[in-house]
Amino acid sequence: MTIAPHRLPELLQAMPKAELHIHIEGSLEPELIFALAQRNGVALSYPSVEALRAAYAFTDLQTFLDIYYAGASVLLKEEDFHDMAWAYLTKAAAENVLHTELFFDPQTHTDRGVPFEVVIKGLDRACRRAKAELGVSATLIMCFLRHLSEEAALKTLEEALPWRDLIVGVGLDSSERGHPPEKFAQVFARCRELGLHVVAHAGEEGPPAYIISALDVLKVERIDHGVRCVEDTALVQRLVKEAMPLTVCPLSNVKLCVFSTLDQHNLKSMLEMGLKVTINSDDPAYFGGYLNQNYLETFAALSLDATAAYTLARNSFEASFASNEDKAGWIAKLDKTFERFAA
Ligand code: ADE
Ligand code: ZN
Repeated sequence: MTIAPHRLPELLQAMPKAELHIHIEGSLEPELIFALAQRNGVALSYPSVEALRAAYAFTDLQTFLDIYYAGASVLLKEEDFHDMAWAYLTKAAAENVLHTELFFDPQTHTDRGVPFEVVIKGLDRACRRAKAELGVSATLIMCFLRHLSEEAALKTLEEALPWRDLIVGVGLDSSERGHPPEKFAQVFARCRELGLHVVAHAGEEGPPAYIISALDVLKVERIDHGVRCVEDTALVQRLVKEAMPLTVCPLSNVKLCVFSTLDQHNLKSMLEMGLKVTINSDDPAYFGGYLNQNYLETFAALSLDATAAYTLARNSFEASFASNEDKAGWIAKLDKTFERFAA
């Protein structure tokens, strides 16, 4: 692909792309946390936006999750969920994200007494508005918190049933170590019967064995993160053979100390192994950047080129749960952008 290297940053920002791994609660910026806290009369344990932001120095996944769940405590009303998602979706539109699949954690809210209905109605309204006003396609993936029990996940699924049509799939997130995918075998089987798509976080901090059980027991269609797959050669071969998408989140991995620096990240070698990698932001308000920042910094740190940009953007559409017709339309737009830059 003959695109002048100096035009690569511009291309990365301009190219159409999809985001498949974004926790909507992780898009809550400190400014919005404070605004919602004031609107709802919620007390925060930090005196200012600056003090909160200064606390974003994580040593692992758990130190992040503790602050992330505290931040979500300001979300009480349907409007709050709408405003949070709308803030993300307007940024996504500006970054040429044509499609996004938003993770949300209902248990983080229902366990505080916020009805499921309030959460889903607010998020769904933002998604519909994004389509109408921004031309961005946005769907919802409901995640179960793996540090809680499978019974709690089954109860959450029951609560979601009246809203089933507003959810494209289910995922599994929160503290990975000590909470293997097989803990959620029954609830995922039930979700598959309901025709929901299934994904799971695996191999972020947890071992390759968790990726294997996510595939074999939960029968997931994508692995979220999955960077530790490289520790198991047979697993890598299987993931390549099955063209299993991996939603990798480079800035997240550095912030949570999965890799010490971005130039140590294994994304480039994963691409070279033939793995179906995508780039995502995970929790952009906490990890130092939205989707384009993840692309820009990763490309600079790993000396990636325009061919990699095309592969990653195309993978993001192919790995999505959108219709084949939508995927083909988005890939045609991607091709047009590359032709324009090659000219
Ligand atoms: N919830 C929000 N972000 C997460 C991550 N990176 N891993 C697991 N659970 C999460
Ligand atoms: Zn995640």
